[in-house]
Formats: sequence, C-alpha cells, structure tokens
Amino acid sequence: MPGPIAISFIETDLDALKEATGKLAVLVTPDGKLDPAGRRLDRLTRGALTRLVESDRWGKVKAGEGVSLGYPAGMAASAVMAVSLPRRPTVEEARKAGASLAKFKGTEALTLAAGSTGRVAELALGLVLRSYDFTTHKTAEAEEAAPAAIMVGKPEDAAAEARPLMALAEGVFFTRDLVNEPSNVLTTTEFAERLAAMQALGLEVEILEEEALAKLGMGALLGVGQGSDSPSKVVVMQWNGGKAGEPPLALVGKGVVFDTGGISLKPAGGMEDMTMDMGGGGVVAGVMRALALRGAKANVVGLVGLVENMPGPNAQRPGDVVTSMKGDTIEVINTDAEGRLVLADVMWYAQERFKPAGMIDLATLTGAIIIALGHENAGVFSNNDALCDAFLKAAKAEGEGAWRMPLGQAYDDKLKSRIADMKNVGGRDAGSITAAQFLQRFVKPECPWIHLDIAGVASVKSDTALAPKGATGWGVLALDRLVRDNFEG
Ligand code: BES
Ligand code: MN
Ligand code: ZN
Repeated sequence: MPGPIAISFIETDLDALKEATGKLAVLVTPDGKLDPAGRRLDRLTRGALTRLVESDRWGKVKAGEGVSLGYPAGMAASAVMAVSLPRRPTVEEARKAGASLAKFKGTEALTLAAGSTGRVAELALGLVLRSYDFTTHKTAEAEEAAPAAIMVGKPEDAAAEARPLMALAEGVFFTRDLVNEPSNVLTTTEFAERLAAMQALGLEVEILEEEALAKLGMGALLGVGQGSDSPSKVVVMQWNGGKAGEPPLALVGKGVVFDTGGISLKPAGGMEDMTMDMGGGGVVAGVMRALALRGAKANVVGLVGLVENMPGPNAQRPGDVVTSMKGDTIEVINTDAEGRLVLADVMWYAQERFKPAGMIDLATLTGAIIIALGHENAGVFSNNDALCDAFLKAAKAEGEGAWRMPLGQAYDDKLKSRIADMKNVGGRDAGSITAAQFLQRFVKPECPWIHLDIAGVASVKSDTALAPKGATGWGVLALDRLVRDNFEG
C-alpha cells in the first residue's frame, strides 16, 4: 500500500522552473502579488500569471484554492497552477492550499515554489493528508504516487518543522487504513497484530485474550463477542514519554470489527458500512502511533476492545443479563446496542489499572448522533468542563468538528431495568445521550471524562477538505493537539 507521499524541501532555484517536469505550482497572494518565482513563471508563460491575477476570476479564488494555467508552451512541466495564499496564512489556509495541490498533483511529481510564505510545513501536511488513497484491494497495479518537492528559502528549517507533522500524517493514515479495511481481513486477531507491531516504535503493547478477560470479570464485553468465531480481545498500548509515575491520559476505543446487530439483526441495506464500527479503536491506535513517532513527552495509554457482533447458536440473546467488570448487572434488551457493553468493561479496567488523569472514549456508538449532528460534528459528552473545553479548543484548532451535548439525571433514569441494575438501551428519544449516560455509569466520579460519539465522522460518503471519501481519521489531529497543549512539558 503506498504510504504517505514523499515530500522534500529544497533550496529555491528559479532557473530550475523551466526544466521541472510533472506539475509545477506557485503561491500568489490573494491581491495578486507575485514573488520572484511568480515573476519568473510569468515570463516563462508569456504573462499568463499576470493576466490571471488581473482578471475578475482571481478575485473569486479563495485563499488556499488554486487555478490551473493548463499546458504552458516552452516549459517541461505538464501544467502550472497558481495557488492563492497570503504571505502569512492561517493553519487552515495553508492546509487547504496543500489539499488543492494534492488534487492538482494526482500521481505525477510536483514542484512547488513556496518562496518565503509562512506555514509551509502545514501546507505540506495538507498535501500529504489529501493524497491518501486506499488501494490495497485494487488488483490493477496501484501507481506509486510520485514525490513532491517544495522550494523554500531555508529547506532545513522547513524540514524540521514538517517532521512532527509527518508523524501526525502517519497516525492519520494508520487510522484510515484500519477503518477502510474490510472485516474479513481486519478480524480481531489481525487488528491486535497490527497494534502489536507498533512495539517497534517504542510503544508497550499487551494483548489480553478471552481467558484473561473472563478472569477480570468482563462479562459485558465477552457477551457481545460470544456469537463470533473471532476471539474477543483487549489491546493495551502504553506510551510513557512523560515523567515516571505521572498518571496517564487514557484513550479507550470501541473496536467492533463488524456489527451485524447480533440477534437484534440490522437490516441488509447499508449493513456493509459496519466494517467501520471499530473506528473508535482505529483513532486510538492512530493517536498512539503519532505520539510514538513524534516522541511525545507525555504518558498516554490507549485501550481497544476488540469484538465481532454476530448472530449464531452461541450469540447473546435479547433479555440476557450480563455482569460487568464493575460488578453491575446489565439486561441486554437490544444486542445491537453492543458498543456501550464493550466500552463499559474496557473503561472500568482502564480506571482500575491506570488511575488515569483523564479518560476519553471514542466510539461509532449511535445512529442517533448522525440524525443530530450529521457528518460535520462528533458528539461530545463530558463530566468535566475544563477537560471538555480543552478538547473543544484543540478540535477547533485542527478543523475537526465537535459539538458538546448534554447529560442529566432524567436521561439516566431511562436505563432502569425491572430485573437488573440497568438495561442497555433507553428508548428511541435522545438515543445518543442515553448511550452516553450508560457509559457514565462506568466512570468514577473523580475521573475527568469525555465520550466522543464519532458515528457520523469516522467514515463519510463524500470527499472532505483533507480526505477522499471513506475513512477520515477524524480525531487523530485533535487528540494529538490536546496531548501537546495540556499533557506535555
Ligand atoms: N454501530 C452502531 C451505531 C452506528 C450506526 C454507527 C450508524 C455508524 C453508523 C451501534 O452499535 C448501534 O447499532 N447502535 C444502535 C443503538 C440502538 C439499538 C439503541 C443504533 O444506533 O441504532
Ligand atoms: Mn450495534
Ligand atoms: Zn456498533
């Protein structure tokens, strides 16, 4: 599978522009100012750039967008693009410019004359993220994407700035690959193996098998997986880059490798989308990868509950009562409300074992969150305003939509069961909130906690700013930033 495209920063060389093969691009300010490379390209194209920026068209081009000049005569390049970007762009503008360049580039080589424009590393991140393609299962030889070279004043400085951002891109790509992978390939065992392979990056990775989970008393999680031939597992990934003994941030992911609904079977139409029901676990894995690759100075532990929700002779039935690791009993009214059963046990285990400074769970938990927020925002639920505000700030800075939702006793009351401590569904109304209330029953009151319902944002059916349709990797950038701004140094 082609990894992130290779990007190199090179010294600006105006004489090389005429000979550069593949695609060629230059940054032009929104008010039409050309830098030295722009002026050189203008001469090579016999004034095409000047004509563009003096036309009405340029005024309508937003910062970060580009205009292709087509096929310039007398030059080696196959096409030239002018990208509108202020000399001091915002992070968002710079990444958007990178995304525009990724689409312009296609699989060809790209040379970008970036001059002295700022945030060129962020531009490179946008370029890499938008170049992602999931070609694993295309039998036609996947074209290895050609590299990109970015001409700047100080190549070493730009490369140093880009290094941690490329670690982020690798994390995002890891998440996207996991989420895009079909469920016959990404079984619980395969998922665990891919996470275990991250030991090579300095992460400590343990795989807890069913026997160990039974000993721990994880009856809620094991009940979900008991109808599948794929064994249930919990993977624990530790990154100890911070001070020894400092309590970690815990990230907990729902890793349902396929969700048929179980005996409460889902309808056939669209069921194939449930290959992405391990999206929460995928984000946790991607964040851990990014933290390791950039050598984050923080203690973070990532836990993923891996199960497959299948019907079958041994499957859990509606009406069954299971006992969670916490000790609370749960009446399983609907076997399709399985994610919360998995998370309940993994979250309890995370708190018992690690006494975390904070805990964030991620899950493609409810269809109801898509009804509420669409594909633009993840649902955010929290018992702690400070942690929640810090997360919302990080998500905003990274351009990842996140919207806080309420919690409250009246919602929790919906979970009362006649025969057990609670039931696993609270009815149709406020389905995402009652799901969050269920989870909160497994959060110790003193533990700052955020629940992220990512059902609408983990995988989407149309292209987004920084990803082609399919898995987005939503959350990797925001969580990395949360760690960077609040748990390091
Ligand atoms: N994995 C689904 C939620 C989901 C739906 C994710 C659509 C992505 C897209 C979850 O396990 C589920 O089935 N939830 C049920 C809960 C209900 C039975 C209370 C739902 O949302 O319908
Ligand atoms: Mn389900
Ligand atoms: Zn599910």
